[in-house]
Amino acid sequence: MTPPDPTAEHHQWWRDAVVYQVYVRSFADSDGDGIGDLPGITSRLPYLRDLGVDAVWITPFYTSPQHDHGYDVADYRDVDPLFGSLADADELLGRAHELGLRVIVDLVPNHTSSEHAWFRAAVAAGPGSPERARYLFRAGRGPDGSEPPNNWLSVFGGPAWTRLPDGEWYLHLFDATQPDLDWRNPEVPAMFEEVLRFWLDRGVDGFRIDVAHGLFKEETLRDQVRPAGETAPAPGSAPAPGDSMVARTLADEPMWDQPEVHEIYRSWHRILDEAGPDKMAVAEAWTQTPESMARFVRPDELDQAFNFSWLLADWSAEAFRDVITGTLEAVAPVGAAPTWVLSNHDVVRHPTRYGGGAQGLARARAATLTMLALPGSSYVYQGEELGLAQVDVAPEHRQDPSWFRTGEPGRDGCRVPIPWSGAEPPFGFGPGPDQPWIPQPAGWSALTVEAQTRAEGSTLEFYRAALAARRTFAATAGEDVEMIGDDEAVLAFRRGPVTVVLNCGTAPAALPPGDVFAASGDLPGGVLPPDTAVWLR
Ligand code: GLC
Repeated sequence: MTPPDPTAEHHQWWRDAVVYQVYVRSFADSDGDGIGDLPGITSRLPYLRDLGVDAVWITPFYTSPQHDHGYDVADYRDVDPLFGSLADADELLGRAHELGLRVIVDLVPNHTSSEHAWFRAAVAAGPGSPERARYLFRAGRGPDGSEPPNNWLSVFGGPAWTRLPDGEWYLHLFDATQPDLDWRNPEVPAMFEEVLRFWLDRGVDGFRIDVAHGLFKEETLRDQVRPAGETAPAPGSAPAPGDSMVARTLADEPMWDQPEVHEIYRSWHRILDEAGPDKMAVAEAWTQTPESMARFVRPDELDQAFNFSWLLADWSAEAFRDVITGTLEAVAPVGAAPTWVLSNHDVVRHPTRYGGGAQGLARARAATLTMLALPGSSYVYQGEELGLAQVDVAPEHRQDPSWFRTGEPGRDGCRVPIPWSGAEPPFGFGPGPDQPWIPQPAGWSALTVEAQTRAEGSTLEFYRAALAARRTFAATAGEDVEMIGDDEAVLAFRRGPVTVVLNCGTAPAALPPGDVFAASGDLPGGVLPPDTAVWLR
């Protein structure tokens, strides 16, 4: 594979890329402290090249007190010592580019850490100060101001406001250690422009924009209208594990998806363009409709947005068909490439979502194969290529801030460190002899990269084969998808030279004519068993 050539004719590489998400803490540990780090990632880049992905998205590794594992940034322009140094980041970028891999880093603009210099200064400076005006500080309600300024709820549970000893409240749509910035204060966009330039200068290829639909809130900070007694997270927010946002009705969301945010993305588009034609940004935007999602990816804004409707779809041919058609219709008018994702660090791993066990895994592989045939780019989450299921993490090991705020299990179960090799924990995750920051299940010895390499029928070899097969057609197959029939149990479509069939039913299905060149499982007797997908040519 040839490394990216910055002088090559403008190719929007992300339009058909497979991007591999690395959750820094849990990918590979170089120094034996039980926590993944940047040198650990660098050492495993050849594995990712050989797996056949095009790019790596790395979750936040900046200076942070780690209350939300890096999504609480105290210094956007430095590396947390837990994960290494700026020199390690440079080394990672250089090595990735040598191997032909692009690197996307996470940008967290909705909130800082409460340990960011700005927030510390705001607390010290007191009410009415310019330091407080970078965040959303307000007086409380009620005669003594002891009621929060409005009724908003944190995505992680409980009120979205915390009161300081001097009586003022500050807004945090996530944890109390993640104060929301006031994007109407010009100092805020100015600071993030510097942050973008800082990482572009170091050579990153793109940014994943955290909570891209947040940033601006309705200026009055009015109450949210919601059904009496509702205490669940605001509907437009990242879902709690197991949440279904498919069936939600349009909600009143004064805290999300305000029109002003698009001006910011237009300015970021210009900054990325100045840095070169091959820089991109992908939005994490939980919006209410496909149309509102498409606004984030207009030609002069961000390049992509995660398409969570694929991840949220039920195991049903009809549901998958609707999501494919709806997604392509939504992005077509703005000319953006669609995206697809089944797992990430915030949701229950897809084999578990599909029922767990052998059937859940078969379905997960089938959904993955179907996804990889679709036009646009696919995002895969570390460990899904090993068929890892959600782990039931014991309460004493849980670290997700939402666990502390709600008592719900939270997201730790999809963040257990990767098993690389060997027969017992830490399964080659790092040089330490002990369990890593979240203990790995003993049963993972059969799921290590080592155990699955060259093992017939393993999930890892399935991913390698599927990604290799994808390379033979994806870049040139075009972006049109033609649905074949509307069977209740079987999804079938054609894209370029490829026919894809996914059996979501309970009976074997007949295969259309063509040569099989990728399959998610065995095809005994030349028919397509339930919970299986196939590509034919
Ligand atoms: C995004 C991240 C999630 C984080 C939250 C707050 O949804 O994916 O992990 O907790 O933003 O930054």
